[in-house]
Parts: sequence; structure tokens; C-alpha cells
Amino acid sequence: MGDIGRVGIIGGAGWLGSAIAKALVDSGTVPAEQLTCSFRNRKPDGALECRWTQDNQQLVENSDIIILSVRPADWNAVDIHASWKLMVSVMAGVNVESIRRKTGSTRIARVLPNAAAEVGRSYTPLFMASSEPDDREIVEVLFRSCGMVDTVFREEHIDYFTAMSGSGEAFPALLAEALMNDAAARGLPREIACRAAQQVIIGAGRLQELHGASPAETVKSFLDYKGTTAEGIVAMRENGFENAIRLGLEAAFRKAQALSEKLVSECDQ
Ligand SMILES: NC(=O)c1ccc[n+]([C@@H]2O[C@H](COP(=O)([O-])OP(=O)(O)OC[C@H]3O[C@@H](n4cnc5c(N)ncnc54)[C@H](OP(=O)(O)O)[C@@H]3O)[C@@H](O)[C@H]2O)c1
Repeated sequence: MGDIGRVGIIGGAGWLGSAIAKALVDSGTVPAEQLTCSFRNRKPDGALECRWTQDNQQLVENSDIIILSVRPADWNAVDIHASWKLMVSVMAGVNVESIRRKTGSTRIARVLPNAAAEVGRSYTPLFMASSEPDDREIVEVLFRSCGMVDTVFREEHIDYFTAMSGSGEAFPALLAEALMNDAAARGLPREIACRAAQQVIIGAGRLQELHGASPAETVKSFLDYKGTTAEGIVAMRENGFENAIRLGLEAAFRKAQALSEKLVSECDQ
């Protein structure tokens, strides 16, 4: 795809907004002169050299594609009219209907990147609500600058991914913390236990990326080897490892759905 058009990021001064802006410019997906970011209180120190404005409607006029990156609680206060623009929301829990009503646009995408966008390794599910044939490709190209993108065909799956991949490094960190605590409980100095656990998840991520094996294939290869790791995997499973993950994701998903319902009812008032 050639020139993608002018892009605006509402909330471009925020954590995710600036990570996306940087990824778009660094990857050459959007030239800095075609990017406008808006801020509410203060333009950040060392801000990217693109256009900046405090006027969101002006950002809309200057852009073909508008990325909505304010916190869900601030969404109600955003006042823009963008009837024929492509709206791409990264906001957790704000649904397509709310964006359609508020902006007047019928070209809407919801995406849910995660914190690894900062290092170009996000996983970003994408849900499209637009009948324009090129819109999905445009959004894919934009978010490939932050990592990997997959299309999902049900909007509720974006809420599910808010709980799952949207958590970014949190769940691997939880596993690493458990490894670390076990090592420390066996008398290892905490700093060594911490380094070992961190290096396990960093090395695992790199190996997954290098070999491209699925997690199931990786686990199977250790089980087939029938060594010490296989003993550990079997015992962890017998003691409820997968059930704990399933219940944890269910709780996080419920919370994402509750947030979505709360925002819909606030929008209706
Ligand atoms: N962080 C993540 O890993 C992650 C992952 C997936 C999705 N998300 C979603 O991404 C969105 C942004 O999250 P974040 O972590 O980047 O939050 P954040 O750091 O608080 O950024 C939000 C930014 O929006 C600005 N803002 C608020 N109202 C505005 C307005 N009317 N006009 C212009 N700017 C406005 C805020 O400005 P002030 O600083 O002046 O208040 C702030 O700079 C959220 O909806 C979140 O659900 C985040």
C-alpha cells in the first residue's frame, strides 16, 4: 500500500499514543509532516517532531485517519465531528456504537495493542466496522508498525483480548515472580533468583520468535524428552496450572465487559 494518508492521534501525548506515533514515524509508515497529535494539558518534553494541537476538531480537519487514544473515562468529554473519516480506537471498553454516535463516522475500527508497542512487539487484534474496502488494510498497515496484527470478526473478542494479550508483560511477569519466589525460598539470594527468572522469560520470548514453534509444540517437545522439565510440567498441570490461568482470564474478561457496559450506560445518559 502506498501513501496511507494523513494521521491524527487524539491523546498523542499519552503513553500508548506516543508509542504509536513513534512507531508510525520510525517505521516510515507515516511521514512526521503527515502526523498530527493532540494533547490536553501539556505537550510532553522531547515530543516527536510532528504537528501538535490542543484542538481536536482541528486535528480531525487535518487528518484522513484518526486514532482515538484517550483513557476510556475521558472519552465522553472528547467533542469531535468526523463523519467521513476513518476512526481507529485503541480504547479499552469503548464500543463501535459509542464511537459512531459521538463522531458521526461509519468507518470505525477497534484495535487493542499492548505495552510491547513501545518496542515494536505488540500483539494487536483488530475489529472492523466499515464497508470501505481498503479500511482494514489501512489499519493493519498502521498497527504492523507496532508489531503483529490479527483481524477478529466479533467485537466482544476485543474485550476478551483486553484481558488476555492486552495485559502485555503482566502474566509472564507473574510466572517469573513465582519462579523467583520459589528460588528465593530455597535459599538463593533474591537478586540471583530475580535475574534467573527474568532471563528465563526473556530467553523464552527470543526463542519463540526465532523458531516460530507454537507454545503447544514447545511444551510437547519437553514432554517428549521425558526429562526433569517434563516432570515439572506434569506436576504443575496436575496442581491446577491451566485452571488458574482460565479462571484469571475469566475474571479479567468479566472486568473488561463490565467496563464496556458502564461506558455504554454513561454515554446513553
Ligand atoms: N497502556 C496500555 O498498555 C494500553 C493497552 C491497550 C489499550 N490502551 C488504551 O489506550 C488508551 C490510552 O492509554 P494510555 O495508557 O496511553 O493512557 P495515558 O498515558 O493516560 O494517555 C492518555 C492521554 O490522553 C490525553 N487526553 C485526555 N483527554 C484528552 C483530550 N480531550 N484531548 C487530547 N488529549 C486528551 C491525556 O492528557 P493529560 O495527560 O493532559 O490528561 C493523556 O496524555 C486507553 O483508552 C487505554 O484503554 C492502553
